[in-house]
Amino acid sequence: MNEDRSTRRARRLLVTGGAGFIGSNFVLHWCEKHKSDRLIILDLLTYAGNRNNLASLEENENFRFVRGDICDRSLVDKLLAEEEINTVAHFAAESHVDRSILGPDAFIQTNVVGSFTLLESFRQYWLKKGRSTDFLFLHVSTDEVYGSLNPEDPPFSETTPYAPNSPYSASKAGSDHLARAYYHTYGLPTIITNCSNNYGPYHFPEKLIPLMSINILLGKPLPVYGDGQNIRDWLYVGDHCSALDVVIYKGKPGETYNIGGNNEVKNIDLVNKICAIADELAPNLPVRPARELITFVKDRPGHDRRYAINATKIKTELGWTPQETVEGGLRKTIQWYINNPDWWQPLLTPEYQEYYRQVY
Ligand code: NAD
Ligand code: TYD
Repeated sequence: MNEDRSTRRARRLLVTGGAGFIGSNFVLHWCEKHKSDRLIILDLLTYAGNRNNLASLEENENFRFVRGDICDRSLVDKLLAEEEINTVAHFAAESHVDRSILGPDAFIQTNVVGSFTLLESFRQYWLKKGRSTDFLFLHVSTDEVYGSLNPEDPPFSETTPYAPNSPYSASKAGSDHLARAYYHTYGLPTIITNCSNNYGPYHFPEKLIPLMSINILLGKPLPVYGDGQNIRDWLYVGDHCSALDVVIYKGKPGETYNIGGNNEVKNIDLVNKICAIADELAPNLPVRPARELITFVKDRPGHDRRYAINATKIKTELGWTPQETVEGGLRKTIQWYINNPDWWQPLLTPEYQEYYRQVY
C-alpha cells in the first residue's frame, strides 16, 4: 500500500485518450467522485476520440482538454510541468483488432512509441521532483496480451505468460513490458492493469456490442464471425472505472492487476441476448424479432477463441469486485444507444462505411 497516494489529498491527473470510450467514462467517473482533483485530458481525437463525450465538463474549472499526440515529447514534457501532474492514467491507444489486421503501423506508433514517450517524459519529470512517492503511472492494458484460452484452461491470472496473437495485442504487450521495465530499472512507480472486454455508453460503433445494437436499430445484418462460439469475459465500463479508482489509490507500484467481469459468454449467445433485449426495449425496430438479422460471416484471421480473467488478486488485495451482471449491463447499454442516436449517427461517416466494407 502506498501511504502517500492512499491519502485523499487532491490529485493532478494527465488522462491520455480521455475522449475515447473507456477514457471518457473514466473522466466522467473521476470528476463526479473526486471533485477537487485537476484533470488534464490529452487526446489526438482520432476517429475513435469524441470531444462530445466530455461536453458536460467544458465549464468545469478543474478540467482542461488538450488536443495532441502522446508521441509529441515536447508537448507531454510541457503539460507535466505546467500542470504539476502527479498521476498519469494512460488510456490512449489504437484499440481495434480488425483495424490492426488491416493496418498495424498506427498501432506500433501510438501503443509502443507513444507509451514509451509518456514513460520517458514522466520519468524525467519524476526525477526533477525528487522521485516523489506520490507519483503514479497507471498503464491501462488488455487481457488480449495473454493470448487465447482453450475451453478447459483456467482463466488468465497475473502470472500467465504473454502470448499475443494480433498486431493490436502485440503492441499492447510491448507497452506493458516497457511499463514493467521502467519500474524494475528506474524505480518509476508504474502499475499495469489488464482488463477484459468492456462495454457501455460512448463505445465506438466498430466493436461488437455497439455494432450489433446500432445495426438492430437500423435493420442491418448482424455479422457474427466464424461459428460464433468465441468467448469473451464482459466487463461493464462503470465497473472498470471503479476498479481503476481503487488501483490509483491503493495499488502497489510494480504490480499488475487483472480486472474482469466474471461474465464469460459465447458471442452467439451474447448477440441473441442483445436481440432479445432490443426487441423488448425499442418500440419501432425495422426488423422484429431482431435475431432474424443474425448472419454468420468469414472469421477474423487469428481470432482468439476464449478470454477469461481471474480477478482474485484485485479482490483480495484491494477489495474490488464487479457489480454489474451481463443482463443488467446490456439493458443499460442498449437503452443508451436507443436514447442517443444523436451521438452515434454522426460517427457512421463515409470513412467508417469504407472501413466496414473492407472488414465485412
Ligand atoms: P478507444 O479506441 O475508444 O479510444 C482511444 C482514444 O485514444 C481515442 O480518444 C483516441 O483519439 C485516443 N488516441 C489514439 N491515438 C492517440 C495518440 N497518438 N495520442 C493521443 N491520443 C490518442 O479505446 P478504449 O476502448 O477506450 O480503450 C482505452 C484503453 O483500454 C486502450 O489502451 C485499450 O488498449 C484498453 N482496453 C480496452 C478494452 C475494451 O474492451 N475497449 C479492453 C481492454 C483494454
Ligand atoms: P471486439 O468487440 O472487436 O473485441 P475483441 O476483438 O477485442 O475481443 O469483438 C468481440 C468478439 O466479437 C470477438 O470474438 C470478435 C467478435 N465479433 C463478431 O463476431 N462480429 C463483429 O462484427 C465484431 C466487431 C466482433
